[in-house]
Amino acid sequence: MRIGNDTTTDAPRPATRRRGAGWLLAALCLALGSGCRKDMYDQPKYEPYEPSTFFGDGTSSRPTVPGTVARGELRADVAYYQGKTAEGKDVDVFPMAVDRDLIELGRERYLIYCSPCHGRLGDGRGMVVRRGFSPPPTFHTEYLKKIPVGHFYDVITHGYGAMYSYAARVPVRHRWAIAAYIRALQYSQDASPEDLSPGERGALAEAEIPGPPNPVDSKRLAEVKK
Ligand code: HEC
Repeated sequence: MRIGNDTTTDAPRPATRRRGAGWLLAALCLALGSGCRKDMYDQPKYEPYEPSTFFGDGTSSRPTVPGTVARGELRADVAYYQGKTAEGKDVDVFPMAVDRDLIELGRERYLIYCSPCHGRLGDGRGMVVRRGFSPPPTFHTEYLKKIPVGHFYDVITHGYGAMYSYAARVPVRHRWAIAAYIRALQYSQDASPEDLSPGERGALAEAEIPGPPNPVDSKRLAEVKK
């Protein structure tokens, strides 16, 4: 739409009248906004979820047939995708090979998503808890050491009591990796030196065990305070 400048007529008009009409048109068009344009971005078609009066249920598209599966989303492996046996119980074995790579992945993901509450050792003393969040149980109880691994998968997927679901942030493979790392954590707090080979025991005896990060240096603190 052309506004104001009338280039189709050569006939001169009184300047004031022409300017007045231009302003009026501009104001009108501003007031009507996009109402007087139909650009390509607003095409005469239904967009997803746009309502319509065409069908009785008020939607513009038909619901999918029951049992429809999106391409690549079949998820027939119940143990892997749901952590359940055919009878609907939590699986007791990992539905994949557990190797060092998987546990390393689990460690990385655990430190990101779980340690803020459960603590880096899994003792339930994470930073968020120390700031007031309801404390989770430690992973080092007989109950949680004996629990089938499918339970960890289930808790990450659906949440548990005060803990919300991590399904949106932790994909299936990562959930199993975290479950494997929790098992490693449980073992780490309950292992005996006899579980190590003599070579490993020797290396452990010689290893320097680092103290906590940034320990409070009380001598220096006393000097600073002076
Ligand atoms: C925001 C804090 C928070 C985070 C983050 C969190 N949890 Fe929890 N978790 C809790 C709390 C609180 C409970 C206890 C819930 C209750 O008993 O109501 C809990 C309970 C659990 C339990 C015990 C269930 C049982 O049977 O007793 C497991 C296992 C668990 N969480 C795993 C995880 C894993 C794995 C992650 C990381 C993906 C995670 N949590 C992240 C707060 C958290």
